Amino acid sequence: METSAAIIVTPSETDARVALSFLHEAGIPGRACPSLGELCKLAPGDVGCAVLVEEALVHPDIDDFLSMLAAQPPWSDLPLVLLASQGAALGALVERVFPESGNVAVLERPMNPVSLVSAVRVGLRARQRQFQVRELLEQRSHALRQRDEFLAMLSHELRNPLAPMRNAAYLMKRLDIDNPLFIKTRDLMERQVTHMARLVDDLLDVSRLELGKVQLKMRGLDLNAATAAAAETCQPMIAARNQTLELQLSREPAYIRADPVRLEQIICNLVTNAAKFTPEGGTIIVKAACAGADASLTVRDSGIGIDAKMLGSVFDLFTQDANTLERSQGGLGIGLTIVKRLVELHGGTIRVASEGRNRGAQFTVTFPRQDATAADRKPAASEAAPGSTKRVLVIEDNPDIRESLGLLLNLWGHGVDYAESGPDGLERADAIRPDVALIDIGLPGLSGYEVARHIRSLDDDWARGVRLIALTGYGRDTDREKATASGFDSHLVKPVDPDVLQALLKLI
Ligand SMILES: Nc1ncnc2c1ncn2[C@@H]1O[C@H](COP(=O)(O)OP(=O)(O)OP(=O)(O)O)[C@@H](O)[C@H]1O
Ligand SMILES: [Mg+2]
Repeated sequence: METSAAIIVTPSETDARVALSFLHEAGIPGRACPSLGELCKLAPGDVGCAVLVEEALVHPDIDDFLSMLAAQPPWSDLPLVLLASQGAALGALVERVFPESGNVAVLERPMNPVSLVSAVRVGLRARQRQFQVRELLEQRSHALRQRDEFLAMLSHELRNPLAPMRNAAYLMKRLDIDNPLFIKTRDLMERQVTHMARLVDDLLDVSRLELGKVQLKMRGLDLNAATAAAAETCQPMIAARNQTLELQLSREPAYIRADPVRLEQIICNLVTNAAKFTPEGGTIIVKAACAGADASLTVRDSGIGIDAKMLGSVFDLFTQDANTLERSQGGLGIGLTIVKRLVELHGGTIRVASEGRNRGAQFTVTFPRQDATAADRKPAASEAAPGSTKRVLVIEDNPDIRESLGLLLNLWGHGVDYAESGPDGLERADAIRPDVALIDIGLPGLSGYEVARHIRSLDDDWARGVRLIALTGYGRDTDREKATASGFDSHLVKPVDPDVLQALLKLI
């Protein structure tokens, strides 16, 4: 907040000197101004309170001054202290000279130091509040401008996938199902739906994160394995841009506590940015390392880099470099805000570095490192081979969901068993002892929660180690909490994104 001064307006140097000395003694900043005309030339922020000595109220200055008062912005009501010697006629003087302004304190001459100091103090205090209001109004109009820009960009970003989808729908109506163009069109549609779903997910994520509503499902894991799995998920985009992804993992395990799904989101966001802001043919290096008490993840690219003046704000919501952003790459400018919030929720930090335009960018995330014993590791056999085939039990009463999930799991090379009800699921689980069980919550016989609780209550290594994933139609925090309390490791909301499920299974 600026410190503004009391301005003594008087043609008399002696009056000015006396008044200023009273103010200085009280520690109040003040300066002299010979006329109202000169006062009008000062910036509003420099004038905290104007002390007008009656001799200054002369034509035409007084007219200019009154116009200036009338033209004040809505936040401003300049405090005035009038020094006059008219005795009983003071009120009439104020009425005559300042018919519009209610913010005048009148002091009788000769000048009394105590009343002058106290009147000026009151004025300066009121003025500080006005400056605060001005700042709030400026912040509000900045936020409104940002909102409008964001809405314009959001409609642009949503229109982008909508246009090809509308064309695709038109084509699909007219093409035979075995026409190769039909398949091409269907794939295009799938890509655009995925893109749109990501935009909406990001928007929801950012608001949930801002409201502190995101809860992590932490467990011990090796950052190396998570980095490798996430890099693989991003590989298609990198290949499509003819770029090379170099993966550098640490020799020793980098155990951290993290939510595997959110960790993948962090890594993929950074790698996607690296690919997006690096020209075709460039290189992206993704590195996991141990550094003292920390485990770190670095994503470095050989791309367009980030201007020094933007480095400080890349993590702010809706920040995008208008000069470099190819609109064809799009985006809302929220990816890094989500990444930063998620990293902080994990107790980590993120920093960015770039040597400038076309010199690439580097993002480094650090997490507190755990030792192997503190990390609640899964049985060694499955961790040693991330992404290996697993035995999966699907407990789901809806035949279409059950069958399509089974097809997906088979496609990824996993062995699949099925159960259609809660009791059936328990029996199958106990008989085949799967690595993973995907369990619907609304099941006949026993709910998914009860199935999980029963499994966890069995006293053996398998029952403690089997990964239980809940599949539900509800994504509220209370549902997640209930799933966790029942012994589930993860909670996926239907319709489950196949990529998310695949990545989750790879991390198991
Ligand atoms: N690796 C990078 N190289 C150069 N600039 C980057 C890089 N990563 C981020 N930026 C800059 O930071 C801005 C913000 O990144 P962020 O991920 O938040 O948004 P976005 O990628 O534009 O959109 P979104 O992630 O919401 O789809 C980008 O628009 C870009 O200007
Ligand atoms: Mg991004």
